[in-house]
Amino acid sequence: MATAQVKYDVKDLALAKEGLSRILWAERDMPVLRAIRERFEREKPLSGMKMSACLHVTAETANLARTLVAGGADLVLVASNPLSTQDDVAASLVADFDIPVYAIKGEDEHSYYRHIRAALEHQPNVTMDDGADLVSAMIFIALNRLNDLHPEVRTWAASLSTDERQQVSGRVCASMEETTTGVIRLRAMEKDGVLLLPVIAVNDAETKHFFDNRYGTGQSTIDGVIRATDMLLAGRSVVVAGYGWCGKGVALRARGMGAHVIVTEVNPIRALEAAMDGFQVAPMAEAAKVGDLFITVTGDIHVLRAEHFAVMKDGAMICNSGHFNVELALDQLAGLAVNTRKGVREFVDEYELPSGNRVFVLGEGRLINLAAAHGHPASVMDMSFAAQALATEWSVKNKGKLSHNVHKVPREIDEWVARLKLETMGIGIDSLTDEQQKYLNSWEMGT
Ligand SMILES: NC(=O)c1ccc[n+]([C@@H]2O[C@H](COP(=O)([O-])OP(=O)(O)OC[C@H]3O[C@@H](n4cnc5c(N)ncnc54)[C@H](O)[C@@H]3O)[C@@H](O)[C@H]2O)c1
Repeated sequence: MATAQVKYDVKDLALAKEGLSRILWAERDMPVLRAIRERFEREKPLSGMKMSACLHVTAETANLARTLVAGGADLVLVASNPLSTQDDVAASLVADFDIPVYAIKGEDEHSYYRHIRAALEHQPNVTMDDGADLVSAMIFIALNRLNDLHPEVRTWAASLSTDERQQVSGRVCASMEETTTGVIRLRAMEKDGVLLLPVIAVNDAETKHFFDNRYGTGQSTIDGVIRATDMLLAGRSVVVAGYGWCGKGVALRARGMGAHVIVTEVNPIRALEAAMDGFQVAPMAEAAKVGDLFITVTGDIHVLRAEHFAVMKDGAMICNSGHFNVELALDQLAGLAVNTRKGVREFVDEYELPSGNRVFVLGEGRLINLAAAHGHPASVMDMSFAAQALATEWSVKNKGKLSHNVHKVPREIDEWVARLKLETMGIGIDSLTDEQQKYLNSWEMGT
C-alpha cells in the first residue's frame, strides 16, 4: 500500500500502482522532455523556486512535474479542470514521487477552488496555468477584488493583509500559460492594465500549437467521442464549430474516418481556409438541422444554444473540446427539455425536447478528450511540455528583468525542441549552404 510523505488531496493512494505504470508508459514517448529532465537533474536551474502548476493532471503532466522537480523546483500541482484528472496518476505522483497534488476527477466547484487555494497557499515564485484560473485568482487578490473570487479562495484572501495580497502576484517572477483560452484572458488583463506579473505564452510557441492543438486535440477529441458513444463516424455528418488550430485537427481526423464534415466559423479567412481545404462551410443555423455529431472548439461562449437545439435531429450528439464548458448553452438545453436522463451511459446525458427528439450531451460539455479519453498522446505533449520546462528555466534566468506583459517563448527554444524531436523520430533535414544563406539575405539578385 502506497504511503505519502507530503500533503495532498487525491481520490485514493491505492491507485498509485496503476498510475505509475501509465506515467512510465507516457515517458517512453517523451524523449525530448526526458533529455531536459536529465540535464535539469545535473544543473538544477529551478533550485530555490517555489512553483504552483494548475494543469490537467494526466500521465504526461506527471512527466513534466518530475522534470520541474528534477530541476530543483518545490512544486505543488493542482487540477485545471474538474473532469480532466487521472486519479491513478495523481495518486502515483504523491505516493511514488512525493509531489503534493490536489486534484480529483469529478470534483465539484468547491473542491476545485479549494485546490486552487492550495496552489496559492504554497506562495509560489513561478506558476503554470492551463486556462489562467490560477493567475486570475492572484490578480483579483492583488487588486483587492475579493468579491470576484470563489468563496473557497475569498476566505483565505480575506485573512491576508493588503501588503500580503500584493505579494501574491508580486513574488511571482513569471507565469507560463499552456492554452489559447488562457492566453486570450491574459492578453485581456494586459490590455486593461491589470497584468501584475510577466507571462510567457507557451501556447503560442510553434512547437506547441502547430502540433498539440492540431494533432493532439484532433486525434484525442475523436477518441473521446468514440469512447463515450461507440458511434461509427463513417457516413455521418459531423459539425465542427471553429476552424482554428484545434478545429483543423478535429475536422481532418473526422474526415479521415469517413465523416462528412461541416465547418462553422465567424472569421472569414478561417472559413475560406476550411472551404479550400474541401470542407462544407455553413452557418450553425443550417448545420444544426443536419448534424449527427457537433463538436465545438472555438474558445467562445454559447456557440450551440436554444435556437440550434430546437432544430436538431433526433439522436444528435453534442460535445465540446474548447477549454471551458461554456461553448454549449446547457442551461438553455435544460430549459427546453421536457425530460432529462443523466448518465444513460457513462459520459452521456439525454435531453428530450418537446418534439420528442433527443439530444445527447457528452462529457457534461467539458473537454471531451480529457473527460472521456486520456487527453493528448504523450508524443505530442513531449513538445508542449519541453517548451513549458525550457520557458520556465528561461524566465527564472531572467528573473526581475521581464516586464508585466505577455511574452513570447524565445525562438531558440522552439527551434531546439523541433530539432531534438526530429532527431528522436529519426528524421534528418538539410541545412543552408553558404551560397543559399547569402542569397536569402541579399536583395541584389533578381531575374
Ligand atoms: N481539448 C484540448 O485538449 C485543447 C487543447 C488545446 C486548446 N484547447 C482549447 O480549444 C479552444 C480553441 O483553441 P484553438 O487553438 O483552436 O484557438 P484558435 O483561436 O486557433 O481557433 C478558434 C476558432 O474559433 C472561431 N470561433 C470563435 N467564435 C466562434 C463561433 N461563435 N462560431 C464558430 N467559430 C468561432 C475563431 O474564429 C477561430 O478561428 C480554446 O478554448 C483552447 O484553449 C483545447
